[in-house]
Amino acid sequence: MQDFDKVRERIVVIMQGFVADCGNEIVTELFAKTNQGKMLRSKLLLAVSGVSEEALKLCAIIELIQSASLLHDDVIDNASTRRKSPSLNAIFGNKNAIMLGDVLYAKAFFELSTYEQSIAKSVSDSVCRLAVGEIEDVFMAQSFNTNKTRYLQMCELKTAALIAASAECGALLSGLDSQKYRSYGNNLGIAFQIIDDVLDITQSTEVLGKPAMSDLSEGKSTLPYIYLYERATREVRQELLTLFGTPLCESKAQWLKEQLNAHHCVQDSIAKACEYALSALDSIQDEGNTQLNEIVQNMIEREF
Ligand code: FPP
Ligand code: MG
Repeated sequence: MQDFDKVRERIVVIMQGFVADCGNEIVTELFAKTNQGKMLRSKLLLAVSGVSEEALKLCAIIELIQSASLLHDDVIDNASTRRKSPSLNAIFGNKNAIMLGDVLYAKAFFELSTYEQSIAKSVSDSVCRLAVGEIEDVFMAQSFNTNKTRYLQMCELKTAALIAASAECGALLSGLDSQKYRSYGNNLGIAFQIIDDVLDITQSTEVLGKPAMSDLSEGKSTLPYIYLYERATREVRQELLTLFGTPLCESKAQWLKEQLNAHHCVQDSIAKACEYALSALDSIQDEGNTQLNEIVQNMIEREF
């Protein structure tokens, strides 16, 4: 693929054009306050399909959906920072963030309707799955979840669905075996969410561009915390349950990190992500696409 930064810029321009089509100054102004991040889904789609106008437009559609889901997610999580900047809900309030999300989502579906049915079905089904995953995430925040299978299923819905669809659509655009690429994307997506949940614990707020150590206070019992629950003494387990869903002070955050390290919870969560990463590579091993190996490697080794 050409230098991804240049390609990324072309996708951003298509997204801006889609938003301008809506013909509303407020929408354009609100959208200008969002930033687009690494665009993993586009990188993946293009690594499978190669760069073409049709593929770039589909990337812009998928990135609009991704932006819409994060706008809604930040309202749901009451987040004040996204990608090193104040979140849209923090600047313009929840109502505007939700409505901009709706505009982006609706426009993306309008543009998606011009694609062949297999592509339209893949993307629209994935959006249904990611919304179901977010509901699961919200419900799981009611009490500390100790069930690893439930956590992994939620990751598959909330995060892997759109990543799997991106890889699948890349294959559909270029006549490759879409099942293999879908399986690759699904496993990559689960690994991606596990690494995200690890980084919440291991990285600083500065590096992450959003508050560190916030998952447990937001009611997210992610894989490292589930391992800690399984492995800790009754006292530590009790303290962990007390900290769930409440703001974390510096000393408690430090204590949690020590416990997580002492029980190898971070290390074993990374190992679990690597298992999914290997399954991803397994799905496409005969396809001879080295870019997909690099995407897996970079995803596991990333710092934010
Ligand atoms: C981030 O999770 C959120 C997601 C991966 C998906 C959110 C999906 C929705 C809100 C449904 C959207 C529905 C439509 C129709 C657009 P996180 O909170 O774990 O990650 P974060 O730390 O980056 O916020
Ligand atoms: Mg969130």
